[in-house]
Amino acid sequence: MSKALQTSQAVAVIGSGTMGCGIALVAGTAGHRVLLLDAVPEAIQRGLERLRADLSRLVSRGKITAEARDARLALIEPAPNLDSLAPAALIVEAIVEDLDIKGALLSRVEALVAPDAILATNTSSLSITALAARLRRPERVVGMHFFNPAQVLPLVEIVSGHLTDTAVAEMVEATAAAWGKTTVRCRSTPGFIVNRVARPFYGEALRLLMENAADVATLDAVLRDCGGFRMGPFELMDLIGNDVNYAVTKSVYDAMSQDPRYKPSLVQRELVDAGLFGRKSGRGFYDYRDTASRPPAIDAPSGPKPAHVVIEGDLGIATPLAGLAEAAGLAVERRDGAGVVRVDGTTLALSDGRTATQRTHDTGEPTMLFDLALDYTSASRIAIAGPDQHDLAPVAKAAGFFQAIGKAVSVLDDAPGLAVMRTVAMLANEAADALHQQIATTAGIDLAMRMGVNYPVGPLAWADAVGPAHCLRTIDHLAAVYGEDRYRASPLLRRMALSQRQFHS
Ligand code: NAI
Repeated sequence: MSKALQTSQAVAVIGSGTMGCGIALVAGTAGHRVLLLDAVPEAIQRGLERLRADLSRLVSRGKITAEARDARLALIEPAPNLDSLAPAALIVEAIVEDLDIKGALLSRVEALVAPDAILATNTSSLSITALAARLRRPERVVGMHFFNPAQVLPLVEIVSGHLTDTAVAEMVEATAAAWGKTTVRCRSTPGFIVNRVARPFYGEALRLLMENAADVATLDAVLRDCGGFRMGPFELMDLIGNDVNYAVTKSVYDAMSQDPRYKPSLVQRELVDAGLFGRKSGRGFYDYRDTASRPPAIDAPSGPKPAHVVIEGDLGIATPLAGLAEAAGLAVERRDGAGVVRVDGTTLALSDGRTATQRTHDTGEPTMLFDLALDYTSASRIAIAGPDQHDLAPVAKAAGFFQAIGKAVSVLDDAPGLAVMRTVAMLANEAADALHQQIATTAGIDLAMRMGVNYPVGPLAWADAVGPAHCLRTIDHLAAVYGEDRYRASPLLRRMALSQRQFHS
């Protein structure tokens, strides 16, 4: 392990906005002298006051002492000008997201700091390679991507450009770790790890909404209560800001040469155009105004309690359903078969990316589909869908089965892949591509997604649990339904599936 910067060495932070102040506090708390500079001098004072107010809240809640607050702030010094940053061994830039402006600033900094000083950038979307190319010594430029708020969120992506010296990336990684952060190394790629691999979480939800699979509140509830995500995609987009989330998607899309996989959604574009940015503007997918109330997820009416349940063959990841049915006192019979559940003559199968209509057509057997759950035992909700037909009895029977084992049921329109299965398969697919392209390691990608966006499990570990072959089948079926390049399977996922290997082995 490379050595971290010593606390006797000074750190400079340029840009005292949201991110710069948080980073300055992290470095100061770790014991470094921090020089904080901004193009607008008043912004430094404003930033320091914001930090003091934040820390004072911790004091009043008894989390830290007033002395600790003062000691942390005392190490952050407003820098009067660029020249005063000369003693810094590490410079972290957190100014406006503009390649030309960042490049011009770092060129000036490069000329006045020591030859072995490291120039780090907190950019969330610009190429580290392109930024470094503007300097005389690109090998000492590295991405140090904190998440907002930097003083709270644990993850820092350490991003190497094409010419970044490995020793520089290692030093910055060790330093961020010494500051108490969880680090993940990656190569410079649009969106790095988190902002790239997370795209399908928003993209698939927006697609489902556009195709009227369900309303916003129901889709959020399914991703949360069945998929185990901390927040549903729509409430999360409203929190991030639809303008910001749309801009990130657009920037990844453009940087990926407009690969349709990252194509921004017209549904979100409409909201942005209308000024419905989310929480900050009072309206987004939801209405946050005082008079508004949050619409509930729509639950299926009570279905009949099943008289006879047959578990046929291996249910794979849905295996706990058998035990849950028995624990609920249902009459359960087990026999060999194709991995389906039969409830009083109605067939239930885990989604594999086909619509229920397609599956019914392919197998000749009317089939209800149910969604992937993170954990079938603890999930409080399950999504189901049935083939296009007039007979509603199968829907009621499927709902009755899941209600009998304690789940709320959301009936979606017959969208391919339901909601969770499709989202997880596409997240796994994106993660597999990032791994294939050597952007980061298997463990690094999963860790970044758990720490950076709070996923309950890393997408590659999730693919292992579902089975790479089932993820691949789901994606191939989505590709067949849509006929779009957006749903092309990662070559690595295909290899994993065909060779029956797991990502974490
Ligand atoms: P911000 O707008 O809150 O702060 C930027 C600060 O930089 C302002 O105080 C501005 O006066 C100063 N500034 C602008 N040009 C300057 C220059 N040439 N020299 C010195 N100071 C200058 O921006 P924020 O949100 O803190 O973002 C900063 C950087 O961090 C951007 O690159 C952004 O992409 C990145 N980032 C932002 C995240 C977020 O959630 N806000 C998350 C992760 C990264």
